Amino acid sequence: MSEPLLEVRSLVVEFEGPGGKFRALDGVDLEIRPGESVGLVGESGCGKTTLARVILGLDRPSHGSVVFRSERGSEGLGMVWQDPSASLNPRWTIGRSVGEPARIHRKKIDVDALLTEVGLDPSLGCRYPHELSGGQRQRAAIARALSLRPDLLLCDEPTAALDLSIQSQILNLIREEQRRLGFSVLYISHDLPTVRFLCDRIVVLYLGKVVEEGPAEEVYAAPRHPYARMLLDSVPSLERVGELPIGGFGEAGSRPHRGCVFAPRCPWADDRCREVPPAPTREPHRVDCWHPLG
Ligand SMILES: Nc1ncnc2c1ncn2[C@@H]1O[C@H](COP(=O)(O)OP(=O)(O)O)[C@@H](O)[C@H]1O
Ligand SMILES: [Mg+2]
Repeated sequence: MSEPLLEVRSLVVEFEGPGGKFRALDGVDLEIRPGESVGLVGESGCGKTTLARVILGLDRPSHGSVVFRSERGSEGLGMVWQDPSASLNPRWTIGRSVGEPARIHRKKIDVDALLTEVGLDPSLGCRYPHELSGGQRQRAAIARALSLRPDLLLCDEPTAALDLSIQSQILNLIREEQRRLGFSVLYISHDLPTVRFLCDRIVVLYLGKVVEEGPAEEVYAAPRHPYARMLLDSVPSLERVGELPIGGFGEAGSRPHRGCVFAPRCPWADDRCREVPPAPTREPHRVDCWHPLG
């Protein structure tokens, strides 16, 4: 197997919160291989954006390491944010924003060809962001992120603010570009079906910890961690109704000091879960749980 393009080891990121220091990420390991697409899923606040920011060098690890093995350094990294205005300056034309990374890195690119590639008419290059639709703006943000032909594209919920019909167009665009250009993807979402569509592998994050990780089809078809099951069950599906123990899953709450992070919400939690952090099992794929499903 080839060396990982991205290697995240025992990553801890601490922030100052209202009640003192807390860990937004707490011992995260993650590898992404060349050409691989990995989906990072979890509810709001579990640390997804923080992980993307650390990979980009915008936040610093408190402990642990992030190694990005691209010979081209930061040029090898592309980023698509949920809000396209994070990468499109409102006072600049679309063409100028798309061409900006190339200008900074003194590279020659064909902005018209890039716009065409992402499904935009090149004439939109002379327009300003507010003159485009939300979907068109996100296409332009993708053109910018792909302009230097990154080895790894980070996507942080790029469809979350778009209408449903537009969401699938953007997902298709990312998938087609990945197949054509062969870059790796880290796709962040709170939505498992989306990630399954796009990704080879799924990593499930809960309150700063990876609780399950495995091939996308396997995690989707047979989630082993109760939290992964809960994420899937929040997607309406007839087959899943009636499989839950009485009482169901609890509300997201504060972080417990010991034991399993998910224990306060887990219908299967017992004394051991509340006291002792779960030891990961690896077969058929990784799950950190004392009572894995299936
Ligand atoms: N700069 C910061 N300072 C303090 N707390 C932060 C900062 N950035 C993120 N957080 C907190 O860290 C946790 C994880 O945030 P985030 O990574 O944005 O989660 P997600 O993207 O999964 O919604 C949240 O509780 C958030 O409030
Ligand atoms: Mg986020």
